[in-house]
Amino acid sequence: MLGLVALVLCLVPADTLTAFPPKFQVGEVNGDVVVTCNTSEQLVSWTQNGDPEPMAELVAKGRTLTILGLDLPAAGNYSCWAGPILLDTTYVVVSETREGGINVSCQAESYRGSFRCSWTGPRSSVFRARLTHSDGSLGAWVPAAGGRGRFSAHFSDPSFCPFAEELRPLQLQLEGLSDTSYFTHSVHFFVWDIALLFPQCDPAPPQKLTLRQRGGQLHLAWAPPASWPLPKSYFTLLYRLQYELPNGTQVEELVEGAEEAQLGGQVQRVRVCCRDPFTRPTWSPWTTWQDIKATQQHQLQPH
Ligand SMILES: *[C@@H]1O[C@H](CO)[C@@H](O)[C@H](O)[C@H]1NC(C)=O
Ligand SMILES: *[C@@H]1O[C@H](CO)[C@@H](O)[C@H](O)[C@H]1NC(C)=O
Ligand SMILES: *[C@@H]1O[C@H](CO)[C@@H](O)[C@H](O)[C@H]1NC(C)=O
Ligand SMILES: *[C@@H]1O[C@H](CO)[C@@H](O)[C@H](O)[C@H]1NC(C)=O
Repeated sequence: MLGLVALVLCLVPADTLTAFPPKFQVGEVNGDVVVTCNTSEQLVSWTQNGDPEPMAELVAKGRTLTILGLDLPAAGNYSCWAGPILLDTTYVVVSETREGGINVSCQAESYRGSFRCSWTGPRSSVFRARLTHSDGSLGAWVPAAGGRGRFSAHFSDPSFCPFAEELRPLQLQLEGLSDTSYFTHSVHFFVWDIALLFPQCDPAPPQKLTLRQRGGQLHLAWAPPASWPLPKSYFTLLYRLQYELPNGTQVEELVEGAEEAQLGGQVQRVRVCCRDPFTRPTWSPWTTWQDIKATQQHQLQPH
């Protein structure tokens, strides 16, 4: 008797998906769906959500099962069996068009083409998403994090180049499954268009430029402009150093993603400006010239 109760409990359908099933099939409401059991067995039996008497009108023939007139009660987990041995499982869902689609919002997180998208969906559903990169290649499906109606996923587009014009938009495709329904949604966008919150370098120049002689080298350090609000690990700046040699020749050097540099040789004076390498093609104003002679004299004084 106990054994029978345990068996009945095991057959209670798992009504909430916790991950994307490895094999699923989408049908239109009132349409027919043909499910195939991937097996070499000649004779198979079927269950729906563990139940041998499915809530659907079915025609079983060899390894195929035809669900006639698909509706929500007919959706779910169709498994084929050879006696007690599970052969294959297909999750059948009804295609659903959601009013107004799915509200996706994406935000770029760095200049290297990485961003995060979030959206809302039915509370008891699972989602996955994939990206068509700007070079046209298709990314892998990424399972969405979250749940209870709010989802998000991280992406990066390795073909994104912050210095070039984006010719083609990225395409983000979402797929969602609830226990009975399937949703899909696509959005197109340019990384530029989701990068509006990127900070800007101009009009302020870098600040706190300091010079220090160390072992025949001139060590420079500075800080991003005060108007630069975000962690510099996310948003790197491009810096342009300009220094003057004793004969008056001016030399330039670019520094990306660092707020320091070493210069060798005879340098008379130094200044620096910055640029957002991503959103802004224009350079900030220069800092005032910092004179090395004054610094050297200062450094020569005993501590
Ligand atoms: C479907 O049912 C089979 C057999 O009971 C089980 O092994 C499988 O985990 C179920 N799949 C899902 C997605 O619920
Ligand atoms: C059928 O099963 C074999 C062996 O498990 C697998 O390699 C193959 O991809 C499956 N085919 C389908 C259509 O699922
Ligand atoms: C979509 O989401 C954004 C941000 O969460 C919100 O401001 C906007 O009103 C939403 N639009 C719709 C149609 O729900
Ligand atoms: C200035 O000095 C640098 C380094 O000593 C040298 O390479 C350059 O040719 C000089 N320029 C002029 C105009 O003399």
